[in-house]
Amino acid sequence: MAQEDVFKKLVAHCKEYGFVFQSSEIYDGLGAVYDYGQNGVELKNNIKKYWWDSMVLLNDNVVGLDSAIFMHPTVWKASGHVDAFNDPLIDNKDSKKRYRADVLIEDLMAKYDAKVDKEVEKAAKRFGESFDEAMFRETNPRVQENLAKKDEIHQRFVKALNDNDLAELRQIIIDYEVVCPISGTKNWTDVRQFNLMFATEMGSTADGALKVYLRPETAQGIFVNFLNVQKTGRMKLPFGIAQIGKAFRNEIVARQFIFRMREFEQMEMQFFVAPGEELNWFEKWKETRMKWHKALGLGDHKYRFHDHDKLAHYANAATDIEYEMPFGFKEVEGIHSRTDFDLSQHQQFSGKKISYFDPERNESYVPYVVETSIGVDRMFLSILAGSYCEEEVPGKDGKTESRVVLKLPPVLAPVKLAVLPLVKKDGLPELARSIVDDLKFHFNCQYDEKDSIGKRYRRQDAVGTPFCVTIDHQSAEDQTVTIRHRDTMAQERVKIADLKGLIMEKVSMTELFKKMQ
Ligand code: GAP
Repeated sequence: MAQEDVFKKLVAHCKEYGFVFQSSEIYDGLGAVYDYGQNGVELKNNIKKYWWDSMVLLNDNVVGLDSAIFMHPTVWKASGHVDAFNDPLIDNKDSKKRYRADVLIEDLMAKYDAKVDKEVEKAAKRFGESFDEAMFRETNPRVQENLAKKDEIHQRFVKALNDNDLAELRQIIIDYEVVCPISGTKNWTDVRQFNLMFATEMGSTADGALKVYLRPETAQGIFVNFLNVQKTGRMKLPFGIAQIGKAFRNEIVARQFIFRMREFEQMEMQFFVAPGEELNWFEKWKETRMKWHKALGLGDHKYRFHDHDKLAHYANAATDIEYEMPFGFKEVEGIHSRTDFDLSQHQQFSGKKISYFDPERNESYVPYVVETSIGVDRMFLSILAGSYCEEEVPGKDGKTESRVVLKLPPVLAPVKLAVLPLVKKDGLPELARSIVDDLKFHFNCQYDEKDSIGKRYRRQDAVGTPFCVTIDHQSAEDQTVTIRHRDTMAQERVKIADLKGLIMEKVSMTELFKKMQ
């Protein structure tokens, strides 16, 4: 199935099974704003817990924070967001559609990569076992031609970004004949900068209300609380402050479902270090964060690092962790070495000294910062994309039937166990309910007695429940049940008393963390 179709199905699946709904749907929706349904909120909470515990529980030098969404407007002047939090936008004059010029060029480069991959795939099929991919990539003329084109665009792109040269960004789009996917034409406007912050008004005074912004990142709440946390927690460098919270950006080009939203959630951690130690910590956090992603078991090959083409003026290193979405490798998390820029700016704009006295160096300085910043919603999308499967499985009378299954990492699944009485009589519902009552304190359990067992299994497969147990007449006699495993559909008879231990082992975050260390 084409990846585009997979994505469409995934979006429909999210709605059908209570994961994600369009915001204000009965009023025809609000662009790029989404609500999470009964299963979505569980999955989202599990993702947040996985992140929070991996930061705050596993590291004794990382503590949490929950700062307000509204902040003093000068915060955003100091951080640079008022003057420079912009996207370069370009319009197609025929379709009247607006695009990010940098994204159009990145998509253009990805097309050349896709051409190379196609050549490699074809050759691998043709040559079979004797195929030497490295040699092919180095010597095949078509591969070389496509790589050279991509390289040429890449060089121009990086230079244009670094020079803030909007005319050159447009020229790349013109020179490589990028067409609007809607109108199919190359009739482009100039490229313009557009600020992404939402503004509103707070209070009312004789002089007018105060213009405040909805925060476009949670990080600034951490920076302005650096001294509060450091002093009250008697924290010694290096240490980190972690925060999960909503962020808002007036994304003009908001497509691809929950990938780019106007209201979204971030999980950010700012790690404060002594000057000169930031690049070591940058490497350590890169490695730690990649391990965190890969531990979920969606496939190591689905992740890669992508170093930034253009470093922000305050950064001395920056990379993204990208995940292979149905629409290509895309950023899920950013890891940035932000130097002492943010704390210094806040020191300057607030007029308050923000420094740390280092007893080992016997000197005071403004700490340097390494940041890890991941979007909850993008993480959610990557998990769903990596878990969605359509399979042909054995059905009734020797025939096959298809099932849709979310092979979610069990630790993140919204429901861990479904308890299904075979019939609605003979004391089986009561026994099933008593099992739910017993286990519901340990993990999320669901009771379901409606429809045939087959249909109930399919419903649980569709929301990714890793375990179903069936209660039958034998259960009442010998206190055993049949447990069915979602991915293999294998069934085994186990004692009711053993259920908790068996399931806990597979769904517990502690087990996952042990594996990561
Ligand atoms: N404090 C640094 C910062 O905010 P960023 O790369 O702009 O860095 C970090 O954002 C992460 O936030 C991204 O990797 C992405 O996962 C998420 N994110 C950013 N904009 C988003 C949007 N419009 N919709 C959903 N997630 C977004």
